Amino acid sequence: MLNIRYELTTTPKAKPEDESKLGFGKVFSDHMFIMNYKTGKGWHDARIVPFGNISLSPASMVLHYGQEIFEGMKAYRTADGDIQFFRPEENFKRLNVSAERLVIPELPVEDALQALHALVEVDKDWVPHNDGASLYIRPFIIAVDPFLGVRPGDEYMFIIILSPSGAYYSTGLNPVDIYVETNYVRAVRGGMGYTKTGGNYAASLAGQDEAHKQNYSQVLWLDGVERKYIEEVGAMNIMFIIDDEVVTPELQGSILPGITRKSVLELCRKWGMKVSERRISIQEISDAYDAGKLQEVFGTGTAAVISPVGHLKWGDKVMEINGGKIGEISQKIYDTMTGMQYGKLPDEMGWIEKL
Ligand code: PLP
Ligand code: COI
Repeated sequence: MLNIRYELTTTPKAKPEDESKLGFGKVFSDHMFIMNYKTGKGWHDARIVPFGNISLSPASMVLHYGQEIFEGMKAYRTADGDIQFFRPEENFKRLNVSAERLVIPELPVEDALQALHALVEVDKDWVPHNDGASLYIRPFIIAVDPFLGVRPGDEYMFIIILSPSGAYYSTGLNPVDIYVETNYVRAVRGGMGYTKTGGNYAASLAGQDEAHKQNYSQVLWLDGVERKYIEEVGAMNIMFIIDDEVVTPELQGSILPGITRKSVLELCRKWGMKVSERRISIQEISDAYDAGKLQEVFGTGTAAVISPVGHLKWGDKVMEINGGKIGEISQKIYDTMTGMQYGKLPDEMGWIEKL
């Protein structure tokens, strides 16, 4: 149990006036949670303080060698005004999986959950009211020792910041156009692809930049060895409906084990759909498309929710999925997931945790 010190702001900021214009990750709430770690002392000095700049030595290890991990989760407001989280313990368990890979000390899940609840309780008025908007929560850990040698740090900060946000893609639930990257790769097996660490996203920027130049909003990554097998998209996992079967790449170390991915697979199995997690080549997708069997394609993620894919470009070939419109199954999954998250549907899966 953490002993959290509160230092609350005396100058709260004005809340966003028009929640439909929030965008993603641009506005921050009044407070943040911070806790420090030092080898020999453990995690200590848990505090909730006004949101603001933090002071770091320019020699801080994270700034040079990227020893950093993060999570992404949301708090939703229900019609009754309750505030709820979606499977938050899964995020903190995954934070510890990332921590192990980056040699960052473990953060007990119950302490992280306590910090989360305490911070959101303080800033609960920042949870948006609009449908489709929510409070995006970004917990992260950074190595802060002032030292230029390469080794795991002895000093860390765990911070949680809150950002009232709308849709991640400006298109909202309208389908996104995705570009299959055949030159750059994001991660390889044995690397850090299964973790949420800044380096994976830094590795994705050149491909994303190329995609944007071609008017595509995101990159679909292929495996780092043969560049044949589908991995995931920049900020979401990917699913295909081929011949009435939900197919998604298996978890083999280079892709993020998404919590939305896992939840969607559990839902589809519960609905009696055929589901398979396996290796899928981009050639197989192209062949299924030519045979008229590629019914729907969508991404899954906390920020992205369920994002239908309208066009998929591989080399010179542009595949238009379901006439460029959201498919029936994608829509049903979207309605069910967001229905539970916003409290419009009963929590039959036991995924909701109230503030
Ligand atoms: N893949 C990547 C690279 C991501 O950044 C995310 C977002 O967190 C996901 C997949 C989806 O994961 P989750 O559903 O846990 O948000
Ligand atoms: C999330 O969905 O929470 C993510 O972390 C994606 C992010 C890179 C915007």
